[in-house]
Amino acid sequence: MSRVLVLGNGGREHAISYKLFNEGHDIFMLGQNPGVAKFGTCVEISEDQIAEFCKNNIIDLVFVGPEKYLVDGIVDKLENEQIRVFGPNKRAAILEGSKSFSKNLMKKYYIPTAKFEIFEKIEEAKEYLKNLDFPIVIKADGIASGKGVIIAESYESSISDLEEIMINNKFNDAGKKVVIEEFLVGEEFSLMCFVSGNKVYPMKIAQDHKRAFDNDEGLNTGGMGAYLPIKHITEEDVKEAVDKIIIPTVEAMISENREFKGILFAGLMKTADGIKTIEYNVRFGDPESEIILQSMNSSLFDIANDIIDGNDINLEWDDKSHVGVVLASKGYPEIYENGYEILGLEKIESQIFYMGTKELNGKIVTNGGRVLIVCASAHTLEEAIEKAYKDIEKIECDNLYYRNDIGHLSLK
Ligand code: AMP
Ligand code: GLY
Repeated sequence: MSRVLVLGNGGREHAISYKLFNEGHDIFMLGQNPGVAKFGTCVEISEDQIAEFCKNNIIDLVFVGPEKYLVDGIVDKLENEQIRVFGPNKRAAILEGSKSFSKNLMKKYYIPTAKFEIFEKIEEAKEYLKNLDFPIVIKADGIASGKGVIIAESYESSISDLEEIMINNKFNDAGKKVVIEEFLVGEEFSLMCFVSGNKVYPMKIAQDHKRAFDNDEGLNTGGMGAYLPIKHITEEDVKEAVDKIIIPTVEAMISENREFKGILFAGLMKTADGIKTIEYNVRFGDPESEIILQSMNSSLFDIANDIIDGNDINLEWDDKSHVGVVLASKGYPEIYENGYEILGLEKIESQIFYMGTKELNGKIVTNGGRVLIVCASAHTLEEAIEKAYKDIEKIECDNLYYRNDIGHLSLK
């Protein structure tokens, strides 16, 4: 039995912790998560105290959930203290940390992606917009909790979006620079791979539902639900993505002296013109990981250690269908209130992960935009979907909403 510290305290980190706990390890989590507190130890320490905590508590492995720690260089800091940590270092995490970096890398190494231009001056960006066909996509350069992407339907709206990002600092410093890119049409899917240098181990693909409401209406969110398998993305599509996107990307990173170790997540679009890259992330997807980890039979602890050491790994999966439906606070991804009591959680038969909750006087209350994810598995996707939604009805809370169509695309 080993001792693992998980950084981050959302649904993804609950799922990572639960998997590692079921593999027989002692779990420590940085931050509070009432779901993890049932089997692990949640600790409140500052980022500066992580190394000392690991030494004092004889932590064998640090598993990093969210991108922010990686982009800020936590791996470099802990490695300098001889602490074993799973995730890319700061030089490699820039793949997610800067969209202008990743777009320029794709351009330089001929990795398929949407056509784009990068701007630091709003006047130049406005000028460029005059000659474009709409819709177009405006992206804040830095990280913005998965919300820094705006699809502008018209010239007028693109101008006000630009002003929001570049003048009113809607995404803080992340929006000092913007990428303006071509709007791609097609089916989106998420391909995550364990990567160690030039070795690439693709996981199962999953589909996330980014928009807030049914039928892909409403604003982009961090993700309102995920499922697998995806009927309309073939094995050839995945092979094309690995050969033309993932492998060239990890090789490009080596050429740039930014060798990648950890999880490379490619957000992809199957277009009429082949598979194209929408974005890179440098960690497990959220909510994708909540379902992918349900499907994974291999030991996550062993994989993380083998990736750190550069050993080959063997990925094994169950053959079930999995679906995860997110319950979010009304108003998310914009303004919402916290503190609503959640009842009925003990009646849930599926797996439930706590995304944004906290315990208050013995009650579980909402404490974030995305609050819970209910994950169900079955032999068919229909059954998994039915199970998940049946369980959701048992949850009582006055301030939650969810999408009713998670996974439905693959049922048609
Ligand atoms: P990102 O944070 O880059 O994944 O973008 C969030 C979401 O915006 C994606 O999951 C897509 O649904 C959408 N999106 C981003 N870039 C594009 C694009 N070039 N064309 C169409 N949709 C896009
Ligand atoms: N679900 C997309 C992400 O984790 O960024």
